[in-house]
Amino acid sequence: APRFKWTKRVLKGSAAVGLAVFAWTVYESRHPLPQFEWDHSKETIAILGTGWGSTSLLKDLDTENYNVVLVSPRAYFLFTPLLPSSTVGTVELRSIMQPIRFLTRFKRREILYVEGNCTNIDPTKKYDYLVVGVGAENATFGIPGVKENACFLKEAWDARRIRTQLLDCLESATFPGQPESEINRLLHMVVVGGGPTGVEYAAELHDFLNDDIQTWYPDIAGKFKITLVEATPHVLGMFPKDLIQYTERTFAENKVEILNNTMVKEVHQKDILVLNKDKELETIPFGLLVWATGNTARPLVSDLISKLPKDLQNQRRGLVVDDWLAVKGSKGSIYALGDCSATKWAPTAQVASRQGAYLAEQFAQLYALKREKSKFVEEGNKPEEFVQKLQPFVYNHQGSLAYVGGDKAIADLPFGIHLSGAMTYLFWRSAYMSNLFSLRNRVLVGFDWLKAKTFGRDISRE
Ligand code: NAI
Repeated sequence: APRFKWTKRVLKGSAAVGLAVFAWTVYESRHPLPQFEWDHSKETIAILGTGWGSTSLLKDLDTENYNVVLVSPRAYFLFTPLLPSSTVGTVELRSIMQPIRFLTRFKRREILYVEGNCTNIDPTKKYDYLVVGVGAENATFGIPGVKENACFLKEAWDARRIRTQLLDCLESATFPGQPESEINRLLHMVVVGGGPTGVEYAAELHDFLNDDIQTWYPDIAGKFKITLVEATPHVLGMFPKDLIQYTERTFAENKVEILNNTMVKEVHQKDILVLNKDKELETIPFGLLVWATGNTARPLVSDLISKLPKDLQNQRRGLVVDDWLAVKGSKGSIYALGDCSATKWAPTAQVASRQGAYLAEQFAQLYALKREKSKFVEEGNKPEEFVQKLQPFVYNHQGSLAYVGGDKAIADLPFGIHLSGAMTYLFWRSAYMSNLFSLRNRVLVGFDWLKAKTFGRDISRE
């Protein structure tokens, strides 16, 4: 009995400490301290973008040593791994968004944030340093009709549009007096691109069908159909073979059809034209089409590439950088990170985020080196004799995760560890939970998950 009493005391004590830490974190998050003003004797860094790379740089950057101007059309950071979940209401969009001022207002020095789209970069006239972290845009490969008729899945407004259109299809399909063919078309959800984005979106759609549509739309639920179109022989090309097979098997069990070796050629308002696996042209009607065929460079980035030496900038997909993330041919004062750069790593959130943290560290080192250099010169040495040593960027891949539907996920981890199934799904959830931007986001997403499990997803069309 005394031992039990102690256990109880320890538990009570830890709960009290946990609660106090939580309360303090919440209090701090709402009470930023006064900030230093800009110091014109210090160098200025201009950062473009508020995605994974730029935000991670901003988070770690010591603004005591630099002035910072931040330009992005998006005044918030978006936790993109949960974007597919937000299209069906498993999580709410705002739960995965973090206003950028919740970050900038906590830096030691004021940050000038400008909500705007950078349209041109002059590589010669600029701030002391420029960091390009503008990401990429959706690849359409020039296929006609994609931009006009398909939904993408990259930004918050894409997810909102998909959710509205999806609910619109459901309500329209129940509208009295419609021909069977029209009902089938409206209830056919087509996803183009079998990369992780397309797979995770199809998985979320399946859950929505299973958990909610069958309950609230019993008359039409049986006609709801999900098809994933992939140009190559298998989905998730970058994952190991056993996990690909697991995904394809799970999709088959969940009645999500995968059309492998099928290439979309044209997109129309209500159907797509594909070259199917038998190399025949086929028309597939759809109610909602989501296009997830990967990334391509933004015009701003292609334009900058064209202004730099052609022998150094020879990649169309992005800016070629050296081992220190400096854009080649820019004389070392323009950096690029994330999806707008062309590196040997996959264009993922993980890489961009690591690059941002690395650049913050590099700026701290640069500041220290500049001070050492002036001391070195004061001591009577020649400035060109000063040796500047900076650590190059190294990336340790932590593994890839993907949700495949029905509370199952796959994980490709280091040392050849491949996991799949329901436990991996719990791992997927906890990994995403811990990677969310702030305590606020964690609480909101946690509540959303609980809400969806308890009351089902919200099916009202806004
Ligand atoms: P992706 O580039 O990985 O996949 C696009 C897919 O579309 C490819 O399989 C391609 O064969 C297919 N495709 C292209 N044109 C087509 C056409 N005309 N018809 C049919 N299929 C066509 O794109 P995704 O999924 O957007 O991912 C982009 C990057 O982000 C990747 O590096 C990916 O690894 C990463 N990512 C990782 C996630 C994770 O680890 N959970 C989640 C989302 C993205």
